[in-house]
Amino acid sequence: MSETLIEVADNAGVVRLTISRPKALNALNSAVLSELAGVLDDLEQRDDLRAVLITGAGEKSFVAGADIAEMRDKTPEQARAFAGQALKTIKRLETLPVPVVALVNGFCLGGGCELALACDWAVASDNAIFGQPEVLLGVIPGFGGTQRLPRRVGPAMAIDLVTTGRKIDANEALRIGLVNRVMPQAELEAYAEELTKQLGGNGPEAVRGAKQAVHDGLDQDLDSALALETSLFALCFAGEEQREGMSAFVEKRKPNF
Ligand code: CAA
Repeated sequence: MSETLIEVADNAGVVRLTISRPKALNALNSAVLSELAGVLDDLEQRDDLRAVLITGAGEKSFVAGADIAEMRDKTPEQARAFAGQALKTIKRLETLPVPVVALVNGFCLGGGCELALACDWAVASDNAIFGQPEVLLGVIPGFGGTQRLPRRVGPAMAIDLVTTGRKIDANEALRIGLVNRVMPQAELEAYAEELTKQLGGNGPEAVRGAKQAVHDGLDQDLDSALALETSLFALCFAGEEQREGMSAFVEKRKPNF
């Protein structure tokens, strides 16, 4: 039987994915990407999905990049196909209708950083190391880094990182807006549990609508985006969640979504 490369744990619709190739610091090879695509086939069908958390197995690495050994002998056509497989899979993760959060528990380099950038946001342990070191290997980022990094941290910092290949620590990642929070590694697990409760307890349709408004609005001019928000806001009033949420407030009880 082939080993499991993506562990899936489901807590009432909050699904945690753990990329598990610890001997290679969870590097992304084509087998990991195929397995992730299979997991996404399932997640995309689920109406009860509330959030996705993604992390790496072990305490040393989130994902240390695309698999260098696998890439070494590729032809340009094979490299294009590999990047295409990764880009498609990462895009599917990004466009899940629920929040996708990266729990960065160590090395977050190259393709790993590109994976984290496709998540809605990221939280990092204080030992996490980030970077796009591809130029040190004679290539450029191929899983979206040259495009998503400047959109997250601005073009000047992105060009700094992709042309020097320098690594930054979790606090610098926080300062430049690459991650939202940093905490001691020992606290990451408790935080993941708290987040699971929080995201699992909010109105699921409202959470989906909030993500959709931000994502779709960013591709539009401000007036169109504000009109989109108004439509999605009004749509909330067509479902039961709004009635339950507001009734619970008025009746001084917890909502039951
Ligand atoms: N691909 C394949 N194997 C990797 C890997 C990667 N990206 N990163 C680490 N490994 C493997 C190592 O080869 C090593 O395997 P062996 O035990 O069989 O020798 C194992 O993981 C442990 O790694 P190290 O012994 O190197 O551990 P370390 O603590 O000394 O160093 C590290 C850790 C700094 C992360 C170092 O492993 C490293 O620099 N890794 C490569 C990081 C990198 O360059 N990533 C970008 C890849 S290119 C890319 O991602 C392109 C793209 O955009 C598509």
